[in-house]
Amino acid sequence: MSGVNEIRSTFLDYFKKNGHEVVSSSPLVPRNDPTLMFTNAGMVQFKNVFTGLEQRPYSTAATAQKCVRAGGKHNDLDNVGYTARHHTFFEMLGNFSFGDYFKERAIELAWNLITREFGLDRERLLVTVYHTDDEAFDLWKKIAGLPDQKIIRIPTSDNFWAMGDTGPCGPCSEIFYDHGDHIWGGPPGSPEEDGDRFIEIWNLVFMQYEQISKEERVNLPRPSIDTGMGLERVAAVLQGKHDNYDIDLFRALIAASEEATGVKAEGERRASHRVIADHLRSASFLIADGVLPSNEGRGYVLRRIMRRAMRHAQLLGARDPLMWKLVPALVAQMGRAYPELVRAEALISETLKLEETRFRKTLERGLGLLSDATATFGKGDMLDGETAFKLYDTYGFPLDLTQDALRARGINVDLAGFTDAMERQKAEARSHWAGSGDKATETIWFELKEKHGATEFLGYDTETAEGVVQAIVRDGASVDAANAGEQVQIVVNQTPFYGESGGQMGDAGVISTDHAKVSVSDTQKKGEGLFVHSATVSEGTLKVGDAVALAVDHARRARLRSNHSATHLLHEAMREVLGTHVAQKGSLVAPERLRFDVSHPKPMSAEELKVVEDMANEIVLQNAPVTTRLMTVDDAIAEGAMALFGEKYGDEVRVVSMGRGVHGSKAGKAYSVELCGGTHVNATGDIGLVRILSESAVGAGVRRIEAVTGEAARIYLAEQDERVKALATALKVQPGEVLSRVESMVDERRKLERELADAKRKLAMGGGQGGAADAVREIGGVKFLGKAISGVDPKDLKGLADDGKTSIGSGVVTLIGVAEDGKASAVVAVTPDMTERFSAVDLVRIASAALGGKGGGGRPDMAQAGGPDGAKAAEAIEAVAAALGG
Ligand code: ALA
Repeated sequence: MSGVNEIRSTFLDYFKKNGHEVVSSSPLVPRNDPTLMFTNAGMVQFKNVFTGLEQRPYSTAATAQKCVRAGGKHNDLDNVGYTARHHTFFEMLGNFSFGDYFKERAIELAWNLITREFGLDRERLLVTVYHTDDEAFDLWKKIAGLPDQKIIRIPTSDNFWAMGDTGPCGPCSEIFYDHGDHIWGGPPGSPEEDGDRFIEIWNLVFMQYEQISKEERVNLPRPSIDTGMGLERVAAVLQGKHDNYDIDLFRALIAASEEATGVKAEGERRASHRVIADHLRSASFLIADGVLPSNEGRGYVLRRIMRRAMRHAQLLGARDPLMWKLVPALVAQMGRAYPELVRAEALISETLKLEETRFRKTLERGLGLLSDATATFGKGDMLDGETAFKLYDTYGFPLDLTQDALRARGINVDLAGFTDAMERQKAEARSHWAGSGDKATETIWFELKEKHGATEFLGYDTETAEGVVQAIVRDGASVDAANAGEQVQIVVNQTPFYGESGGQMGDAGVISTDHAKVSVSDTQKKGEGLFVHSATVSEGTLKVGDAVALAVDHARRARLRSNHSATHLLHEAMREVLGTHVAQKGSLVAPERLRFDVSHPKPMSAEELKVVEDMANEIVLQNAPVTTRLMTVDDAIAEGAMALFGEKYGDEVRVVSMGRGVHGSKAGKAYSVELCGGTHVNATGDIGLVRILSESAVGAGVRRIEAVTGEAARIYLAEQDERVKALATALKVQPGEVLSRVESMVDERRKLERELADAKRKLAMGGGQGGAADAVREIGGVKFLGKAISGVDPKDLKGLADDGKTSIGSGVVTLIGVAEDGKASAVVAVTPDMTERFSAVDLVRIASAALGGKGGGGRPDMAQAGGPDGAKAAEAIEAVAAALGG
């Protein structure tokens, strides 16, 4: 007898031995299909390989694929717990040929595996083929030697497999196992086929066609193979069990829940343990693949699964949250095959615990209401829709939880009444909305949200995905299509594009179909839940209903991630360096830089900026993983997460942590912990480098820093370095000597300037023709030095006048400086012994008047004035001389 893990590896090893590439399971949230809620078959990840759209380096493959069938078309949720073979989560083992082998080899490989490797009893095996498929019939006969009555022709769609309404499809052939005549049931095609005796274990699909639309079906480029074997079913057969829940893996999970609750999985408690074991698997794998509980879309399916399990935990009498305690048992069983489970273990536990803690608050009260409302009910009665809606709306009971709770008593729920109650509430919300002022202009988004539900955001986990166009808005109105050249806003059911929020700018990128290409310049959130892509159609025509490929501009997003994570590091570093009064006042995370405003009363010093930058880079160099968890606001704040005061947060928030503290109170603890819905680097090393560019004021008590990271920081620093090198070359020194060279040049220049000024002065006042000596005369016994000089800075005139006073000893000095533009400045100086007789101010005004100017001012011993007419310098000197004589 083999355990589930051995069966899985036997299967994969067998196909590897037979030349197949073993490919990892794809995520549960399909990246390449716009319509599927969850991956529900092994072939989903190969859809485009079958149709020839995508090439892979191998033509045959084998996988063990995680599948969820809950929500959407395939929904097994309601039956789980009550049957032997329904699961919300299961593993599908499959082998694939992309135009390589076809029917013969597929049948041969399958038959050899189950009869030789797995050693199943041939006598217990029988197969079905599509009723017209003579080729498959003959091959089974030839390869397996099965008698005609064990190759059953099935004329219905049961033996024609299609992925969905469109996509690859073809006739199929199924292998059945006979569990024995002690179990009721008949072979496929017989009236007793719905019994449990003959169980399908493997489906071989002969992929031949692609369904393009309802009417059109075309041949695939080459006939291909897609097979699917439920691992839990085949494990049951190999372990001699009839019931999937009796295989080793489920026994281990159920043992864990028996142990945690102290209740045996017997009698009517058996179903609850099965529900818990099954839902633990689907919830944990969904969380590991990036789905988190919410009230919309995939997140709501997860919430329904979790809450359904939680009601059963409560039925088992668990007083405290139970599900999270079972996670280690699941990881022990499946963590080796699916390492993502190990990586996400903490996130899974926390998310389960949080949801159960929250839901417990209303679960008991809701169940009380339900039992009151149905106290007198008997089998076949119907709970009114209004009560079911109240349970949904007020107590958080998903509809299927209410149905499940009433199932054992044979009571149904009035579904039409439930829908009516839901519609009434929506209509009321709509009427409030339409009436509320400014918001009325945004009515179109609200209406689209009402019609289509919130956009599912996939961009935490992927930058490419497929989606379906739900609406195209042009000039504020919905349109059916947009043509090349038109600017529109596009709403898609799911998107990897981040909508601007929390300071991080929206994503840009490309939306495309086979026939159209659309370039997205921005993404904004509107109507409380819609992601709206602002875009220009560059080629072809985009229509509502089109399936589209969405691709975020990766390089731009990488820079946004890096700048956003760096903002968190700088924020923490500033709190450490400046104090905990530092709080975020504003933030802009753009691709090319980040801007961050904080409360701080004074400019940051160069030293403080340097320390902040060093600290941020210290965490960058740790290359520590960036982790995201979902918590209640209260728990997050209790853990020390930084939250913005006054910001509105939902019940649950994302908490982003990065780095290990090195200094002070943070030493050894998580460095930065913030509530944040943005996108971040995977590890701090991805930031590369943080460089602060500037620090400035943006208002009273608010400082702003701007910084660059990664490549932008490298380029910035490289440019700075180039500049230093160019300087060094120009100065003919080594780069390290630039500063001392420049300092000595500045000193030298100052010295030279002084010498030059002296020289000019000497030249202006010194001997020779036009020299000061020539200019001295006596007027009425008073020495008078009068001189016009050009080429001297007006501000040097006073110094020259002082020199003049010294040289004459006693008397009056008048200097007229004439500038290049012809304007004049005049300075009159009077030696102290003469200030009783002459006022420099009066005299300079006389000079100024002669120069065509007015006024002048100073002290009695030194005054200055100006005038426009430098050509009158001689007249001005004579006018002063005349005043002395007068
Ligand atoms: N794709 C096939 C199935 O899901 C094998 O049954």
